[in-house]
Amino acid sequence: MPHKYHNFNTIIPEIESKIDALLAKMTLDEKVGQTVQVHINESNRKEMVEQLRNGQVGSVLTIYGVDNINAIQKVAVEETRLGIPVIIGNDVIHGYRTIFPIPLAESCTWDLDLIEESAHIAAEEATANGVHWTFAPMVDICRDPRWGRIAEGAGEDPYLGEVFGASRVRGFQRELSSGRKMVACPKHYVAYGGAEAGKDYNSVDMSERRLRDIYLPPFKAAFDAGAGTTMSAFNEINGIPASANRFTLQQILRNEWGFTGFVVSDWNSVGELIPHGVANGYKEAAQNAFLAGVDMDMVSGAYHRHLAELVSSGEIPETRLDEAVRQILRIKFMLDLFDNPYTDSINAEAAILKPEYLQTALEVTTKSMVLLKNQGDILPINTEEVKRIAIIGPLADDHHEILGTWHRIGRDEDTESVLDGIRELIPDDIEITHTQGCDLFGKRPTNTISAVTAAQKADLVIMVLGEAESMSGEAHSRAHLGLPGRQQFLLEAVHATGTPIVAVLMSGRPLVIPWMAENIPAILCAWHGGLRTGRAVADILFGDANPSGKLTASWPRTEGQIPIYYAHKNTGRPLGGVGGFQFQRYHFTEFIDEEVTPLFPFGFGLSYTSFEYSDLQVLTPKMSLDSTLKVRAEITNTGEIPGDEIVQLYVRDLVGEVTRPVKELKGFQKISLQPGESQMVEFEISVQRLGFHGLDMQYKVEPGEFKIWVGPNSAEGLEGDFRVE
Ligand code: GLC
Repeated sequence: MPHKYHNFNTIIPEIESKIDALLAKMTLDEKVGQTVQVHINESNRKEMVEQLRNGQVGSVLTIYGVDNINAIQKVAVEETRLGIPVIIGNDVIHGYRTIFPIPLAESCTWDLDLIEESAHIAAEEATANGVHWTFAPMVDICRDPRWGRIAEGAGEDPYLGEVFGASRVRGFQRELSSGRKMVACPKHYVAYGGAEAGKDYNSVDMSERRLRDIYLPPFKAAFDAGAGTTMSAFNEINGIPASANRFTLQQILRNEWGFTGFVVSDWNSVGELIPHGVANGYKEAAQNAFLAGVDMDMVSGAYHRHLAELVSSGEIPETRLDEAVRQILRIKFMLDLFDNPYTDSINAEAAILKPEYLQTALEVTTKSMVLLKNQGDILPINTEEVKRIAIIGPLADDHHEILGTWHRIGRDEDTESVLDGIRELIPDDIEITHTQGCDLFGKRPTNTISAVTAAQKADLVIMVLGEAESMSGEAHSRAHLGLPGRQQFLLEAVHATGTPIVAVLMSGRPLVIPWMAENIPAILCAWHGGLRTGRAVADILFGDANPSGKLTASWPRTEGQIPIYYAHKNTGRPLGGVGGFQFQRYHFTEFIDEEVTPLFPFGFGLSYTSFEYSDLQVLTPKMSLDSTLKVRAEITNTGEIPGDEIVQLYVRDLVGEVTRPVKELKGFQKISLQPGESQMVEFEISVQRLGFHGLDMQYKVEPGEFKIWVGPNSAEGLEGDFRVE
């Protein structure tokens, strides 16, 4: 049965008539009230409820508990003059109570259906508990792993950003078993992931072309999937803060894209126009943001305090206020909040942590993990030979960090640690020891002796290392991306025993692990994998699952390589030289003290089996601008066990009126092959998808020569070519 989806980025005439009728009754203060979003806590509850009762609140965020939410809604519906319901917004980023892997990890599944299902489950749990609106998906492209919020998105590639963002919007906005609805909020509009030096909230300065080719497409795809709101970002863009930027909020979002939903500011980003230095005070901040196109003010209070006087004085036309209120009421009507403002609490508990949700979470978590190294096929662990296993590291028996950033009300007690998962899975004749060895932050003495002793007595060591969830996410950028604390010291001490080591890495970002990559035979990137991390790691380490995840962000060899991404430009002095000229060493786009390639490239991930790519056929070697590129290649499972392979298609536009990347992902397919099985994988790509924003800043596809690759990752593949005439 095909799913049905709600489209909140559209106009429904009968709803517009209802809005017309309601708007006509609203006073100036009541209109302003709809533009105000507040956070209610114990300290301000009395004041906020009074403000709500006076019709001065349109939305409440970060509030939990159906009874608590219904009590607030009751004031709005039954105690205000017009009874306009509030819209309840929460950060349901990677699950509500069934916590899935962080979005960066989920993106490594490259599985659109699974990503949609994960979001759908989150919507089922959240709406049954009173949530109407999630501040997700985060669709910020990021090419700088120093930035803590790389954890929340889909990595470095705009195409993946588009398809994963759209899948998550569809998941959140899919028809729910209860008949309730949830509206999505692709964020942070826009280019937040381009912060200088990866420092959160830092300045963003880039060409309009980069904005349009890289950072905007995931938002466009999310709105085309029906997302009904968006959130303006904290950062400035080329000197103008995103929450007061008429170019992005008006020219692009409204004039070019025809977005019909509403824009909410990020937390106090209206008030932050003052420290940005573009407003002298809250009144000017309110005026700048509102006139630029921010319809709702998240918690700064600027709209609540100043919008009415700005409209009364004519500094803000009432037509602009009516437009903002219309857009907000439109979403409230589409959510059926006027007809069904309350959530029936009877289903709240039953709706969460359902066995089928936990099973899906296990599938997502398992498929999100990326096998980075497996020297000598040390994995999967051979339980015929390995009888004594030492499990060492600060994350080996962790029940909290694996929840990852933005886990909100996810609970430690709902999680399975790696130790839990392994103990549950292994045969009785295998002896397990567990030693924490050190803490994550290097604040407590390292218990090296016990770790080394345990390693010496074992046939194999499983070291579970990485980041705390508090080392990633918002306001947690890192300048040093190695193993935090004294984990590297512990790793090298255990390595010195000579007992083989399998490393399980948990993090919210790509880490800088050159020593580990050089010296440790097997490395499994497990990310912060959510509730089912332990079972997923165990299934992979002991061969009950064959890893299939592939990276969606490049892993640098050192911080000095950052920003590092596969779709870079060729430059005038690419490595390998330029025809004829003999330059001295290093006179190319490179470093004198480090390689230019990443430690692990975009699209990379190993399997327990092996795949061979052959017989690339470009079926359309010559095309016109309105043609469809058709390419196929044969992939064979040349190993001895079944496996999934993410087949990737990249193109390069060799000559353009502006410089073009050396590679761009334009398609992928995930296939499952039995041992020895071959499959011809076919791609059909509209030539219109091969374009860029040219000298006139208009999107265009230019005739000319193109290269194409079909391969297992961005660094290798079968090469072909075609031309567009
Ligand atoms: C935060 C985040 C944003 C989140 C909002 C509400 O500061 O930047 O992603 O949705 O505030 O919690």
